[in-house]
Amino acid sequence: MGRIHLGVNVDHVATLRQARGTRYPDPVLAASLAELAGADQITIHLREDRRHIQDRDLLVMRKTVQVPLNLEMAATAEMTAIACEQTPDTVTLVPEKRQERTTEGGLDCVGQQALLASTIGALKQAGIVVSLFIGAEPDQIAMAAQLGAQTVELHTGEYCQAQGALHQERELERLRAGCEQAHGLGLRVAAGHGLDYHNVRAVCALPHMAELNIGHAIMARAVLVGLERAVREMRDIIEQSSQ
Ligand code: PXP
Repeated sequence: MGRIHLGVNVDHVATLRQARGTRYPDPVLAASLAELAGADQITIHLREDRRHIQDRDLLVMRKTVQVPLNLEMAATAEMTAIACEQTPDTVTLVPEKRQERTTEGGLDCVGQQALLASTIGALKQAGIVVSLFIGAEPDQIAMAAQLGAQTVELHTGEYCQAQGALHQERELERLRAGCEQAHGLGLRVAAGHGLDYHNVRAVCALPHMAELNIGHAIMARAVLVGLERAVREMRDIIEQSSQ
């Protein structure tokens, strides 16, 4: 199995900045530090309400980030236009609700087939690799492949919130089946949401796992130990757990 890539999500640095309307802390600097510490990818979510990452952050990061830049966004005309102009390396399409604290569920590829088909078509035409953030459900994975996505990012939120070993193992089993199905359909497999320094280990051991996108846990640790150490420690755990 190849090395699992770590995408570091720097949205929370922007959240801290927006809380006071200051110019600091700058998520652009955080992205550079994360890179120096071993991040394989930088992930940002430009939300429609601009609650954390701003258009300026994307513009500057497009010029400064050396590793692949992964833009999470909703499948809207506005976001698609921004992505096609800025051409991040990857776009991860996510559902977005204004009232949610963070992305709550996966995309409904089956229900939104037509919208996603045209969005994916436009993004791919601009040379952007497209990933779909979905639950590990057989019909969603099958539709992701049919729609021409290159990657699926499986939602790990339910696994991360599972209470007790039995429930956790059931969620892991769903993820395991999702990984096998996605790989069998020629999709690259990523995962994310709610992963921390403990629960990430079992996810690293899932078959065909190629990429993890992690934000909150890394930034929460960074507040106490510094960003470089927080990224390096996550990188080390991923290394150990995927051997
Ligand atoms: N992947 C996707 C698609 C997300 O929407 C998020 C949350 O922004 C993450 C990964 C990272 O989640 P967390 O901050 O819980 O690590």
